[in-house]
Amino acid sequence: MPTPHIEATSPDQIANTVLMPGDPLRAKFIAETYLDQVECFNQVRGMYGYTGYYKGKRISVMGSGMGMPSAMIYYHELFAFYDVQTIIRIGTAGALQADIRLKDIVVATAACTNSIINHNKFGNTRFAPTPDFDLLVKAKEEAERMGIRTHFGTVLSSDEFYSDEKVEISQKLAQYGVLAAEMESGALFTTARKLGKRSLALFTISDSLVTDESESAQERQQAYRQMMELALEIAPE
Ligand code: HPA
Repeated sequence: MPTPHIEATSPDQIANTVLMPGDPLRAKFIAETYLDQVECFNQVRGMYGYTGYYKGKRISVMGSGMGMPSAMIYYHELFAFYDVQTIIRIGTAGALQADIRLKDIVVATAACTNSIINHNKFGNTRFAPTPDFDLLVKAKEEAERMGIRTHFGTVLSSDEFYSDEKVEISQKLAQYGVLAAEMESGALFTTARKLGKRSLALFTISDSLVTDESESAQERQQAYRQMMELALEIAPE
């Protein structure tokens, strides 16, 4: 400590729970909008990380970058070197089901993936990346209390945003009940399981692979707030 990618010099600078959007500027936005007594603990590569208090609860927020190879570096370093116990990903995803609309919230109960990462780890045995069950239950209860429309189910953690096979594979996955596509959760759930930590992933739907709808960056920001508030409420101390 510091690590190659995080300049915090002590685990004390980072809370037990870290909320992680892909975009570091969103981490900055969350810190500035929702947290008190904010201190910045990372600026390396512009991957901003902050610690502060939400309704008296100490919490950190940091960007992960896009895609599993980038995000997995931060997940690993936070869990393994900074004693972080819980990471909650807060991201955007593309809907694979017609009844999942823009701005809806999806909570991943599992992440299938086309990434080579778990193939490298497990060979022909297919590991099933899953989040923490207690956090799932908490998310369900809190979403109901807040009156937020949520869908719980499997997501696809994809290595490609502009995939050649988008249509055929997406249709097959949709048929098998996969709700939405994103690019990081498989690596988060795998890293948390490997290190005996807790993880969860929440998404707002920013586009649809079924209807080709998409929302502007500004609309995305509004929908994002509800998800951030849900994540902040359920984050363990
Ligand atoms: N694919 C992968 N990741 C995404 C998408 C998508 O359509 N939308 C938001 N993140």
